[in-house]
This record gives sequence, structure tokens and C-alpha cells, in this order.
Amino acid sequence: MVSIMAGNYDFTQLNKEKIAELLAQDDFSAVYEAADKVRRSNVGNTVNLRAIIEFSNVCRRQCTYCGLNRGNKELQRFRMGHEEIVNTAKLAIQAGYKTIVLQSGEDDYFTKERMGRLIEDIKNIEAPFETAVTLSIGERSYKEYKYFREKGADRYLLKHETADAKLYAGLHPCGTFEERIECLKILKELGYETGGGFMTGLPGQSLYTVAEDILLLKKIGCDMAGIGPFISNPKTPLKGEKSGEPELAKRAVAITRLLLPKANLPITTSLSVLSEAETPGGQHENPFNFGANVIMKKVTPDKYKHAYEIYPAKLSRTDIVKDRKELERSILRYGRIPL
Ligand code: 5AD
Repeated sequence: MVSIMAGNYDFTQLNKEKIAELLAQDDFSAVYEAADKVRRSNVGNTVNLRAIIEFSNVCRRQCTYCGLNRGNKELQRFRMGHEEIVNTAKLAIQAGYKTIVLQSGEDDYFTKERMGRLIEDIKNIEAPFETAVTLSIGERSYKEYKYFREKGADRYLLKHETADAKLYAGLHPCGTFEERIECLKILKELGYETGGGFMTGLPGQSLYTVAEDILLLKKIGCDMAGIGPFISNPKTPLKGEKSGEPELAKRAVAITRLLLPKANLPITTSLSVLSEAETPGGQHENPFNFGANVIMKKVTPDKYKHAYEIYPAKLSRTDIVKDRKELERSILRYGRIPL
């Protein structure tokens, strides 16, 4: 095992207690430095850019934190058409994206066959490189996951949201923690590059929970992990709750980098450190200095973008080519290589 030493710390023995202790420290800089070092030697200086198409906000579930939950009657629901989705993917690929992430609520309209055709058509878009297709469409059956894989899907994102089964039950009236973990196991078994992840700052969560969240990513063998702060959405049952602090999410990403040195770790949208770092008067620190190596960019057409409201966020107009160029420029400014 590689010994990760920084300052007075030896990060090789990271159990639940040790992780919780690290997360609570006043000065976290030694861990950030170690995470940055591990990131550099394992995944290098590249920042992988992904294009996300939010193709349907219809959802059969009722996750209490999420604006897409089916109880939210204020949300105008949409589904993009097949050609519209494929054309959006084409524009993203032409702009230089090598990964297309298809994300939606759990929408039964997108049957196994409909998803299969989408995957196939996107994989067949002409490009100077092989396009990777990532699915982020929630819990499906073994048969469906297998079929999507056969049709060419490469990766799958399915966050476990919280490793505390009791907390999970309170947040998810529609499904169990065991079912979620079973899906993640199946995805791994089918050879997907598998992404887990969780929210930090959830009401009722402790630092021990966050420690367990990180250890669970390791146990599953996640190839990717999306970690972001909970943002209270006024149109959900968790309205009025306090939102999570971005700092805790950043710390969780850093420790995840130590435990999963080769993982792809995005700066999640909810963390959006990049835009924050560029706000005049905001922080100007390098947003890539805590272990992350992926940026996910929405390429959803403007007419749908605002309805994909998982939590309230400021959205700018989408210009796929221009947005990508801007992203590349800012990544280069921070001394990293956009891919
Ligand atoms: N705050 C932060 N993240 C959220 N997600 C859903 N709702 C919220 C929220 N209120 C994240 C979850 C989910 C993904 C679709 O978005 O982690 O997996």
C-alpha cells in the first residue's frame, strides 16, 4: 500500500473514526495537499469534461430533497424527443465532448427499448474518438441494465445518497437502501464504470455518516463518485431545512481521493466551486486543488433547462460551443488540461 504522508499525518489507516476526526478539524490543509498529490500522481493534470443532457424531468419517485419528486405539482414536466436528444448529443460531440451523460428522473416512458435506441444512436454519431455514454436514470431491473450495456452504455451514475439506512428510509418513501446497493452491485458486475455518491449536510446526518458514505464508495469499488452539498429546495418536503456547507463536501471529496486514488471525482453542480472561484470578490483559489478531476456541463436545451430543477440554481443560457471553450480556458488558467 502506498503510504500517504503529509505533515504529521499518515492517511493509510482511514477508518470511520479517523475520517470523522479529519472532517472535523479546524485546519484541513494537510488533507487537501495530500489529496492534490494523490490526484496528480494517479489521474494526472487532466480535467475530464462531460456533457449532460437532462432529457426528462418526469419521475415516479418521491425523494424528499429533490425538486423532481412526483409530489411537486408546481413543476412543469417535460420529455425530450428521440431526435432532439440525439441532436443535442451531436452538438456536444462536435463541440469536443467525449462523454455524453443521459440524465433523467425515473421515467417509465423511457422503456428498455427506447433507451436502447438512444444509446445506440448516440454511440453511432460520427466522431474522431469513441464517445462514451453514461446513464443516470435511476433504479432499473437487472435485465434493463444488462440490455443497456449490450447496446453500448459504458458508465452508470447512481448515487447511494446516504449510507445511513435509517436516514435513507426517511428521505426515500419509494425505495430501500438495500435496493439501491443491490443496483450498484449489479452495475459493477455488468462491467459498467460505476458511479456512486452522496450529499453532505443532509438534515440528521453526522460526520460519522459522511465517513461511512466515503467508506461505502470504497466497499462498492466505485469508479466515480459525485459528492455535493444538500441544497434546500422550497418546493420539497425539506423546505426550510438548512443547506449543507460546500466546505464539508470539498473535504469529503478530498478524503475520497485518498481512498480511491484513481476514481473520477467531479466538482458537482451543487458544489460549483468553479463559478464561485470566478465571481469577482469571491474565492480565487484553484477549484481543482482538493482532489476533483471532472467537470460536468449541462448542454440541455434552454427551453427545458429551467424545468430540470432539482434545487434552485442560477442558470445561464446554453451555448454548447461557447460554454465548452470558456470551460477549457478557465481550466487551462488553473494549470490543468481539459479533455
Ligand atoms: N440538493 C443537493 N443535491 C440534490 N440532489 C437531489 N436533490 C438535491 C438537493 N436538494 C442530487 C442527488 C441526486 C441527484 C439527481 O441530485 O444526489 O442523486
